[in-house]
Amino acid sequence: MDVPAPLVRGAALLRCPVCSAPLRVHERSLVCDQRHTYDIARHGHVTLARAPAPGDDAPMVAARAAVFDAGHYAPLTTALARAAEESLSDGRVVLDIGAGTGHHLAGVLRASPGALGFALDTSRPALRLAARAHPEIAAVVGDVWEALPFQDGVVDLALVVFAPRNGAEIARVLAPGGTALVVIPTPEHLAELAHLHGVQVDPEKPERLERTLGAHLAHEATTRVRWTMELSADDVEQVIRMSPAGAHRGEGEARATTVTGSVELRTYRSPDVRGGG
Ligand SMILES: C[S@@+](CC[C@H](N)C(=O)[O-])C[C@H]1O[C@@H](n2cnc3c(N)ncnc32)[C@H](O)[C@@H]1O
Ligand SMILES: [Zn+2]
Repeated sequence: MDVPAPLVRGAALLRCPVCSAPLRVHERSLVCDQRHTYDIARHGHVTLARAPAPGDDAPMVAARAAVFDAGHYAPLTTALARAAEESLSDGRVVLDIGAGTGHHLAGVLRASPGALGFALDTSRPALRLAARAHPEIAAVVGDVWEALPFQDGVVDLALVVFAPRNGAEIARVLAPGGTALVVIPTPEHLAELAHLHGVQVDPEKPERLERTLGAHLAHEATTRVRWTMELSADDVEQVIRMSPAGAHRGEGEARATTVTGSVELRTYRSPDVRGGG
């Protein structure tokens, strides 16, 4: 089996999780000069983390993929693709952190031909889908809470959509002037389904985002993306299952209903010049 083309194209941008040296393709592996070796899995992803947390399990990933396939998050993918177009041109690099199935990243790449995408996640079931979501996606098992397995300043656009954020590492891997697009839910998001969540979903607080990212990157803009989803009873079950709250499914019966999608799309910029000296 061949090494996926985007991994061949992007290997030198990656870094060895043990010694931080650049990687290159050797047979079915990525290797550094010290011969630390990372095998490329049959499904196309490569693990570049010391001890990655498990991430989303296979049923959560399947539910997420079904909801995306039904088009229920299409307005969000479109908004991301539009916002990304400004930062991406031929040869540019986009890193989706906590990429899940790679659905949004694939939408971004379709709108920006010639760009190279990395899907980073701890979930192997998610990355199996991400590796197939678009021909220019390289799928990397990595943990947001370890150092990201990328060289300094090689990423033109970082995406973080409903996923954990490590501001210092995002700032390190972004190129000077690079952009981070961060999506967080507002309190309205899926509010109609709150009775089916056994736990109250803590809406992401913009202040928390400011603490984690604002210290490292300049906040440039916030836009609100709001849409409605016409969900069948089965869709409702999938939407509950794809979120962490799915593990605490409440007692209520799922019924076909109209549900609100509502997120903040925040744009952050890396300083143009490093070091300030
Ligand atoms: C709510 S899902 C969002 C996935 C994708 N961005 C989307 O919008 O469809 C959160 C993702 O973050 C991943 N994740 C959780 N903890 C992580 C970590 N420490 N490092 C990398 N990914 C992580 C999960 O496996 C999951 O795929
Ligand atoms: Zn090494």
